Amino acid sequence: MGNSVIRGNLCYSHDRDTVIIRPNTYLVCEDGVCAGIFDTLPERYAALPLTDFGDRLVLPGLIDLHVHAPQFAFRGLGMDMELLDWLNTYTFPEESKYAQLDYADRAYSQFVSHLRRSATTRAVCFATIHTPATELLMEKMEDSGLISYIGKVNMDRNSPDYLREDSAEASLEATEQWICATNSRFARTKPILTPRFIPSCSDALLNGLRALAEKYHLPVQSHLSENFGEIEWVKELCPDAKFYGDAYNRFGLFGGDQPCIMAHCVHSSDEELELMKKNGVFIAHSPLSNTNLASGVAPVSKYLEYGLNVALASDVAGGDTENMFQVMAGAIRASKLRWRMLDQKVKPLTVDQAFYLATLGGGSFFGKVGSFEDGYAFDAVVLDDSALDHPQELTLRARLERCIYLADERHIAAKFVAGRRLF
Ligand code: GUN
Ligand code: FE
Repeated sequence: MGNSVIRGNLCYSHDRDTVIIRPNTYLVCEDGVCAGIFDTLPERYAALPLTDFGDRLVLPGLIDLHVHAPQFAFRGLGMDMELLDWLNTYTFPEESKYAQLDYADRAYSQFVSHLRRSATTRAVCFATIHTPATELLMEKMEDSGLISYIGKVNMDRNSPDYLREDSAEASLEATEQWICATNSRFARTKPILTPRFIPSCSDALLNGLRALAEKYHLPVQSHLSENFGEIEWVKELCPDAKFYGDAYNRFGLFGGDQPCIMAHCVHSSDEELELMKKNGVFIAHSPLSNTNLASGVAPVSKYLEYGLNVALASDVAGGDTENMFQVMAGAIRASKLRWRMLDQKVKPLTVDQAFYLATLGGGSFFGKVGSFEDGYAFDAVVLDDSALDHPQELTLRARLERCIYLADERHIAAKFVAGRRLF
C-alpha cells in the first residue's frame, strides 16, 4: 500500500453537528492513514502519485454497523408483519437454507458483490448459526477488500427445530472452533460474538459467551429494545432483570471490557441508556427496519445529546436496502415524523447529524475511522453526481445534501479502504 494523494471536494464531519466542506483540496494518504488536508500540496508530497477527482465529491466511506448478510436474499419482501411474526414467518426459514453450502455460496456472493459496489467501506454483520457458511462469508468479505466483523449467530432456545443449536454446550463448542479457525486468519475480517437476542439464548449459553469474549478479547453484538412484544417477552423470560439491557449486563455482555453493539434501542428506558453510556455500548440505529417492521422510531437526537455512541445501520432485511445513503435519509425522515406526531422535545435529525452517524459515529467502533482528519484510516468514496441533473447552480453543500437523498452505487466513481483503491 503505497503513499498517495487524491484531490477533490472533501466532505467530512468535524463533530456531531458540523460537516466541513473543502473545495478542490488535497488529501494525503500515508500507510493507509490520512496524513494531511491541503489547499496547496506541500513540496514534500510532490513526488507522490496524485489522482485528481476534479469536481467530484469525496466522502469518508460509510459504515453499516448492523446488517444480516443472509437476509439480503429477501430484501424488500415480507414487510407485512411485526418483528416476532416476521422472524418466524420469513427470516428463520430463509436463514435455515444456509445449512447448505451451495445456497450460501450463491447468496453470499450476491450480498458481498452489492456491498462492495455500495458506499459502505466497513460493516458489522450477522451470519447464521451455521459455521461453514459463516466461514465462507468471511472469505468472501476478505476477498472484497472491505473491512468487517462477522458473527456466527448463537441460538439454543425458543427457535424452530430447523434453526436451533442442540444445546448451550454444542453452540459454545461450535463457536470456539469457529473463533480458533478465523480469529487470526484474515487481515480485514474478524469474528464478533453474536447471541441473536435474549429470547433465543439460554443463561448457560450467555455465560459461556462471556467466557469466550474474555478469553479471546472479542466484541459482542446483539439486539435490544426493538419491539413491544419482544420487550414483554424478555420481561417474562428474565423476571430478575431490571430492564432489557440488564439481561445482557448480568452475563457481562453489555460493553465495558468488551466493545459491544446493540441494534435498535427504539424503546430504551433512561436506566438502560445510562448503563449504555457508562459501558460505552454502541447503538446501531436502523430507521428503515424500524419503520418497515413498525417497531417505532428511536429518539436519536436525544441519544446524541446525551453523549451515547450512536451509528447508522441498514439492518437488512428488516431494512430493505444496503444503500447507506437511503439509511441516512430514512433516519432524517423518521425523526421528523417522530417529532411531529409523538414528541416535540426530541428534535428532528439534521443532515449534518445523519452524515456524522453514517461516518464518524459508526467509524469509531473500528478505531480512528470515519473522518479525513490526521490519523484517520484512509477510507473514501468518490461521488460523481453529474447524472443527478439540475438546471440551477448548486453549492457543494447542496450537492452533498442531494447525494444523501438520491445517490446509489451508480454514482460511486471510486472507493478506497484503508488506503487501498477497490475500484
Ligand atoms: N431480533 C432478533 N433477530 C432479529 C433479526 O434478524 N432482525 C431484527 N430486526 N431484529 C431481530
Ligand atoms: Fe438486526
